[in-house]
Amino acid sequence: VSLRDLNTFGLDADARFFINVRSVEELTAILRDPEWKNFPKFILGGGSNILLTKDIDALVIHPDIKGITIVEETEETVVLEVGAGEVWHDFVMHCVDKGYGGVENLSLIPGTVGAAPMQNIGAYGVEIRSVIVSVEAVDIETGEIRVFSNAECEFGYRESVFKKALKNKYVITGATFRLSKQPVLNAAYGDVQKTLQEMGADNPTIRDISAAIMQIRRSKLPDPAEIGNAGSFFKNPEIPVAQFASLHEMHPEVPGYPVDAETVKVPAGWLIEQAGWKGYREGAIGVHARQALVLVNYGGGTGAEIKALSEKIQASVAEKFGIRLNAEVNFI
Ligand code: EPU
Repeated sequence: VSLRDLNTFGLDADARFFINVRSVEELTAILRDPEWKNFPKFILGGGSNILLTKDIDALVIHPDIKGITIVEETEETVVLEVGAGEVWHDFVMHCVDKGYGGVENLSLIPGTVGAAPMQNIGAYGVEIRSVIVSVEAVDIETGEIRVFSNAECEFGYRESVFKKALKNKYVITGATFRLSKQPVLNAAYGDVQKTLQEMGADNPTIRDISAAIMQIRRSKLPDPAEIGNAGSFFKNPEIPVAQFASLHEMHPEVPGYPVDAETVKVPAGWLIEQAGWKGYREGAIGVHARQALVLVNYGGGTGAEIKALSEKIQASVAEKFGIRLNAEVNFI
């Protein structure tokens, strides 16, 4: 079974076996089925953060569990239980339409609700961890259901327990969110403020914020429906303050965002652009011309080619700046 339409890079890898599951019951039944018991399994969610470098010799399980349900509602907040298979951006639009604030800054992020907690998706000053109550998951080994509290998810910058200690151990089947009916807006991010002004939104609503962010994203990030990509390919590296100071001395224009007293986050996109890679193309793959942090497949490229390019970029940034870039995308 080709997985081409199930990964946003549009890479053509095959799954040995493939199953779409539409409910938690269907999922636990498959996981407990003696026939599949000892067969390797691979969970494929939205496919928006993976690089398929080869065929998958396993049973590929695609959680396609739908549904948005209100589980609690007060004057101020609403708690929603959402199926892992809901498209993330559709969920954001649902919240914007209903006036539920908290996820509007995460508009237009590709992928599904189930994949979102995995890497604690974040953009324009907001991370999903700030609205997650819990994550519902099923143990791949035993088929048992487990609910993870926000703390148990161990969220960090593009990190969670599901990418670390519990990697490949659980299938996320849904997530529960607490959103605000009296939203506190998060428009501090420079680009967002500027775009809101251009839009003439003096008294912005969550809908305005969402619209501004969609405009910004569309202006620099390629639409996976047109050009294969997985958003940021690398994480923004965090370096010691002293190293940032010497970098700044050599390149006074380098952007940097303080993380704490000891560390500064440097945009990988800036480093990659300075190393000369922005807009670079090699056959069917390359570096996006408007955002150097995004690697792209123009069509027909392979995961192995993208991996090789990412390694060349890593080596060149390390040589020029002495900074190691780590991939945000998961290599399969
Ligand atoms: N920059 C360059 N050249 C580039 C790209 C960026 O010089 O080609 C500089 C910009 O000038 C700017 C800085 O880098 O000063 C930051 O750029 P931008 O605001 O576009 O954000 P980013 O650091 O490139 C991060 C996230 C994005 C998220 C945006 C907005 C990571 C790895 N990426 O990108 O997340 O949308 O901030 O909050 O943290 C994703 O994870 O897939 C993703 C798109």
